[in-house]
Amino acid sequence: MTDLSQLEADLSARVAAVQDLAALEAVRVEALGKTGSISELLKTLGRLSPDERREQGPKINGLRDAVTLAIAARKDHLETAALDARLAAERVDLSLPPPPERRGRVHPTMQVMDEMIAVFADLGFSLAEGPDIEDDFHNFTALNFPPRHPAREMHDTFWLPEDEAGQRKLLRTHTSPVQIRVMQQGQNHKLPGWIATSQSPPIRIIVPGRTYRSDSDATHTPMFHQLEGLVIDRNIHMGHLKWTLDTFISRYFETPVVETRFRPHHFPFTEPSAEMDVKCDRSGRDVKIGQGDDWLEIVGCGMVHPNVLANCGLDPDEWQGFAFGFGVDRLGTLKYGMPDLRDMFASDVRWLEHYGFSAFQAPNPATGLS
Ligand code: PHE
Repeated sequence: MTDLSQLEADLSARVAAVQDLAALEAVRVEALGKTGSISELLKTLGRLSPDERREQGPKINGLRDAVTLAIAARKDHLETAALDARLAAERVDLSLPPPPERRGRVHPTMQVMDEMIAVFADLGFSLAEGPDIEDDFHNFTALNFPPRHPAREMHDTFWLPEDEAGQRKLLRTHTSPVQIRVMQQGQNHKLPGWIATSQSPPIRIIVPGRTYRSDSDATHTPMFHQLEGLVIDRNIHMGHLKWTLDTFISRYFETPVVETRFRPHHFPFTEPSAEMDVKCDRSGRDVKIGQGDDWLEIVGCGMVHPNVLANCGLDPDEWQGFAFGFGVDRLGTLKYGMPDLRDMFASDVRWLEHYGFSAFQAPNPATGLS
């Protein structure tokens, strides 16, 4: 005869000792499974006499119930402990920094424009803007391009279809038409508020903006950006122009001394006209401004043509001025070393991640921009 109290003591001890659910299940199968120790005892009941059965039955059933309860209690305990352990281990630590998010980048052209604007703002220039869609008058005629003159063809203009009035508008080929919009005296433009309104001299403006020419190679894109400058006052001469450009170039390229030279050139709207070159080193992969003994053309400029002043209602005997026009994207490629201008507008996010700027840059000591 099996000693029931001994069996119960053994099973209780084993149930209490198991440390995980798998071990507990093994004990359950051993005791209560088909061939488990308690199941075998229950099978013996059928072979007992009624009297013995009356005596043994409640004991064996009691043992089965007690062990079943003990296993259930232990299971509950182990499950709670496992959950507590998981909760402790998987606790969310709110003091941890969040995972990094993908941040946008500032396009180099916009960065360069900001840098340029900061330098010119410091020199006392204010901002003016004009429309991208221009008419022939502002883009050419008022700027002293004679009618049907080949200089108009040089700009590879994108012309728009004729409008109801039989006029063909165009995508401005340079930012110089804004010179006209600002200088035109007595004009009351019915134009959106952001477009520059006319001013009386003295005038000291810069005009950043998009420009368009039907042209595409490593140094030309059909859309590009210019930054125009215009100064009109009494007794303005080329010395002022040279100082302004020299000062800008040294601040923009963050080099104390940059050697520059004026090369004679022709623009219909300036007389004399020049292109300014900077000394540079082109021997390596990147162009190094302010070193070496190569020259690089960097800006078109000149003294505002008397005809342009007269076209705007200003007396050329009273007022003089200078103007210049930078290629913004090109200045970016020179400062930040991009080999092909076309990549600037290819909308390749990998390019932008590589060449783009953080919106939260440390202040630039040269420009004071942040
Ligand atoms: N508008 C000229 C260009 O696009 C640049 C320029 C501007 C030249 C102002 C002289 C004065 O090439």
